[in-house]
Amino acid sequence: MTYELTIEPLGQTVEVEAGQTLLDASLRAGVYLPHACGHGLCGTCKVQVLDGEVDHGPISSFALMDFEIAEGMCLACCATAETDITIEADIDDEPDHEAFAEFREQALRALARDSAAFTYRPSTLVSSICFARRDRCDYIGMFKDHQSAFEHKPWVESALSDRGIAGIPWKYVADEEQLDLERSVAGGPLMLRRSRTSGGTGLVKVTTPEEMAVHWPHEREAFVSVAPYLDGGIPLNVGGVVWHDGVTVHPASIQLIGIEGCTTRPFGYCGNDFSSVHDLDRSVLDDVDHGTHSVGQWLRENGYRGSFGVDFLVVQGRALFTEVNPRFQGSTHLSSEISTREGQGCIVLEHLAACLGIDAPTPMPLREIGRGGGSHIVLHAPGPGRSRIDGLDLASKLSERPDVRRIDVLTRPDLVTDPGATVARVTVAGSVTTTGFDLFSPWTEMVKDVATG
Ligand code: FES
Repeated sequence: MTYELTIEPLGQTVEVEAGQTLLDASLRAGVYLPHACGHGLCGTCKVQVLDGEVDHGPISSFALMDFEIAEGMCLACCATAETDITIEADIDDEPDHEAFAEFREQALRALARDSAAFTYRPSTLVSSICFARRDRCDYIGMFKDHQSAFEHKPWVESALSDRGIAGIPWKYVADEEQLDLERSVAGGPLMLRRSRTSGGTGLVKVTTPEEMAVHWPHEREAFVSVAPYLDGGIPLNVGGVVWHDGVTVHPASIQLIGIEGCTTRPFGYCGNDFSSVHDLDRSVLDDVDHGTHSVGQWLRENGYRGSFGVDFLVVQGRALFTEVNPRFQGSTHLSSEISTREGQGCIVLEHLAACLGIDAPTPMPLREIGRGGGSHIVLHAPGPGRSRIDGLDLASKLSERPDVRRIDVLTRPDLVTDPGATVARVTVAGSVTTTGFDLFSPWTEMVKDVATG
């Protein structure tokens, strides 16, 4: 007897024989699931059963507790399928088994002598490598599972709202109450959001009950964040660093969102304009400065250290808090370049200093930093399928444009690029937008040219 095993978040389906463990079936089909002992003792292979029935097999009660079984978890190295089954595994790194193993081997070798490691964003893979090298390698950053708590947007924004920080009025709606909400969409478009999102993924605008029924994101938590769609707002982003004894703020920018030709996602991240942000009213920048310090202060009190970002939406001259990004961001590179040009500490060095426990420097007011400005436009692979993109050809096309200061290209024709993956970052001298949702000429034409090849 054979069953179908679907593995989320990959969405991949493999066959599993009656009596064969879920781990064995996955590995034989080339899908890597985290595991260690292979005998039900360590708990590394714990997965959530989203649908279907399993026989738990010979597990240790320490590796999988009774309440975890009641919550629908199982150990993939011991569990066998009794029906077709869907599981969700903690796969946050490259799922390709061979590449994963090769990277791990090289990283272990590189960190075998006195060294330090820090990442764009903490990951389970890097945490596990650094623990195995703890005697020789300093890990400069937060433990993945600690940092991950700060990525839970409803928890963070509820706590900040309780502190009086004005933000988008998100409501949290249980799956069971979706039908009531379908009626209320008649009052105007709504935004639906998953609890953990990044770069514009997991966000959708709905205007009819039918769209809501189709796009409602069913998740393990069984609730969805819902807010009215605020038309005409200007999206702002600002960086910061949490120190053991304070918070510093880094240059602000107008964030580029959902630009046609740069991304196919309606709310996808497309870059930052650090120049035109200084044309905004001073009171807006002061609001953003104050809001970022307050967010950083809350992060500090809750044990966060290092670089973070905050997004705001400026609506009718008021900056509303949108979300926190507890990590480096797409804007970090250009923000650091601007700070360095102005003789200020850049966000990367401040992150290192804060994680090493050094005292915070005196913060500068936001309206006095980043005035040199500049912008960057981030291009993503369009899809729908994977593609091979000639980075050199792309760079030569872009370099003909006026004001281009730098081009970083991530693709080569011998690499397969996933749809939505970052392809290139084009840094330019001045402003490219005032709204965040469209570009000035000639940048509109440039991205369309590039997108159409
Ligand atoms: S790998 Fe250790 S319990 Fe499954």
